[in-house]
Amino acid sequence: MPRPATSAPTSTAPATVRRVGVFDSGIGGLSVLRELQRSLPSHHLHYVADSAHAPYGERDDAHVIERSMRVVSHLVDHGAQAIVIACNTATAVAVSQLRAAWPQLPFIGVEPGIKPALALSRSGRIGVMATAATLSSAKFQRLVATHGAEKFIHLQACVGVAAAIERGELDAPDLLALIDTHCRPLRHAAVDTVVLGCTHYPFVQAAIQASLGPHVHIVDTAVAVARHAATLLAEPAALPERAHDEAGVLLETTGDAAQLERFARRCLPFDCEVATAPRGL
Ligand code: DGL
Repeated sequence: MPRPATSAPTSTAPATVRRVGVFDSGIGGLSVLRELQRSLPSHHLHYVADSAHAPYGERDDAHVIERSMRVVSHLVDHGAQAIVIACNTATAVAVSQLRAAWPQLPFIGVEPGIKPALALSRSGRIGVMATAATLSSAKFQRLVATHGAEKFIHLQACVGVAAAIERGELDAPDLLALIDTHCRPLRHAAVDTVVLGCTHYPFVQAAIQASLGPHVHIVDTAVAVARHAATLLAEPAALPERAHDEAGVLLETTGDAAQLERFARRCLPFDCEVATAPRGL
């Protein structure tokens, strides 16, 4: 079980380098990690893909909370001084419990970019593609009430898409057909802007764009999240030489490390160390 109240880092970083923990239900959060690394190149980034327990978006809240607590406990035990929740579902369902368990730890979450989408839309008709758990969460409902009350927002629960992306075959015919099935109602709703409300979806953005048509704007919040993280966890202006040695990216998975490594090589523009997460995580 997680030990949030008592867990202490087993390794400490020099004060000039911030060690940032990042997690998602699986490989989706790598779409956030690649932007984070660009924004925070001198930080050490420790990413956990909880692929053995994905998809979060089709499980109940208790599962998402329990897994998020365990993964954050692991990241904190390994020195994380801040956490980026690179998962809309875990942010929607578990961020309050995480903040309550680790009140001193900065948490940066991701949520569907409804506000930027409404700002971009000319017709005032937007769509959100996300997991069923995100769309039914109280946090997401509040987001819609705050920014989208009286607007037309088509909510599309993309059941099965994150799980299919987890298999790593991004141009598999069954995945492309599933994407088209979920885009069809958005086409019928005549939206001109669509929010990618799950961090897995940027990896199939081209297929989503092809299905929606070239006139539809697609909004992904990964860059905005990375900028926010960079502001909060500011890069030290002048780093001692030693600090750069501490920077780097470690990817761990509760699933198949070879598969994660293949995916990371294909999708990340930087080198990382890849490992299997400890048994029991
Ligand atoms: N990548 C996650 C998100 O942003 C969810 C995928 C899943 O269902 O596990 O919501």
